[in-house]
Amino acid sequence: METTVGVDLQACKVILENDGIVAIPTETVYGLAGNALSPKAIELIYVVKDRPRVNPLIIHISSANQLEQYAKNIPLAATRLMEAFWPGPLTLLLEKKDNIPSEATSGSPLAAFRVPDHPLTLQLLQSVDFPLVAPSANPFGYISPSSAQHVLDQLSGKIPYILDGGPCEKGIESTIIGFEGEKAILYRSGALDNEAISFVLGQNLEKYTPKSQAAPVTSGMMKHHYAPLTPMLLVDSLADFEIQSGVKVGIISFDTSYTVVEDQFQIVLSPSSDLLEAAKNLYSALHMMDKKNVELIIAEKVPHQGIGIAINDRLEKASNRG
Ligand code: TXA
Ligand code: MG
Repeated sequence: METTVGVDLQACKVILENDGIVAIPTETVYGLAGNALSPKAIELIYVVKDRPRVNPLIIHISSANQLEQYAKNIPLAATRLMEAFWPGPLTLLLEKKDNIPSEATSGSPLAAFRVPDHPLTLQLLQSVDFPLVAPSANPFGYISPSSAQHVLDQLSGKIPYILDGGPCEKGIESTIIGFEGEKAILYRSGALDNEAISFVLGQNLEKYTPKSQAAPVTSGMMKHHYAPLTPMLLVDSLADFEIQSGVKVGIISFDTSYTVVEDQFQIVLSPSSDLLEAAKNLYSALHMMDKKNVELIIAEKVPHQGIGIAINDRLEKASNRG
């Protein structure tokens, strides 16, 4: 199959209406989208991503007004969060209505919903009469794509169309929040920082811990994920780290450039120490390093605050082995 990259919304609409799948831009990462009401499209996503069926999909809708069509018993806390942050990098786990096929949620009575903040994808969502399921557009376990080129590198020949919306503004996946009554639970740290959520709700966020083995898997629970093919090591700081001689190393640092390796083997995520910029550059840095033929990538943690918490989470998962 030939993969076209472009901005033809009509072509995407036709593919989606025929149970096909296309890559779509969002403000977080690119998604691999299909009709959320079509088990056939959902199955295709799992096949193309080679993703375990126990790992459910996020349902993208065009506005909060659409939610009541697909979700029920919506907590007040969820309504307050969507009012504050949608469209945006926040996913809410809510009780699903029967029209959402169980294939989209791996059999769970809960479904994940979000309104993405990207003009092309919002237009596409408005043009079809179904929501879109969209996991990140990468083979399972590998680095998420933050540009159309990343998607092409990983899925060329496997999907018909990549809607090119430019580089992703946030660069890291959405924050996932579930509820126990009115209490908000953090399932995955992400581009919307925890403090902003706590501030709106006036409560501290508790981290999700699975209560049974049968609970659906979330990437927040997986130890190894978002990973380059090259082995990766995560250190607190590269400042006093000694690199073993004889090993071809690439380094990814937060704001400092180091002299231990040649310039071509190092990427500084944000020379101006800006965590938002670091998040935006993170997956590109991992993709680029993976192409440099180094034997080991050494990355340094970023300050553990705001979106830095999600960056460190991704770096940790990328550096855990198997
Ligand atoms: O920013 C994002 O969220 C991107 C863009 C494309 O929207 N999507 C994304 O999807 O990161 P994905 O599939 O790569 O990660 C979604 C996470 C998975 O770990 C999945 O297990 C969890 O959300 N999830 C989805 N539905 C769920 C459900 N019903 N219950 C528990 N976890 C769920
Ligand atoms: Mg993913």
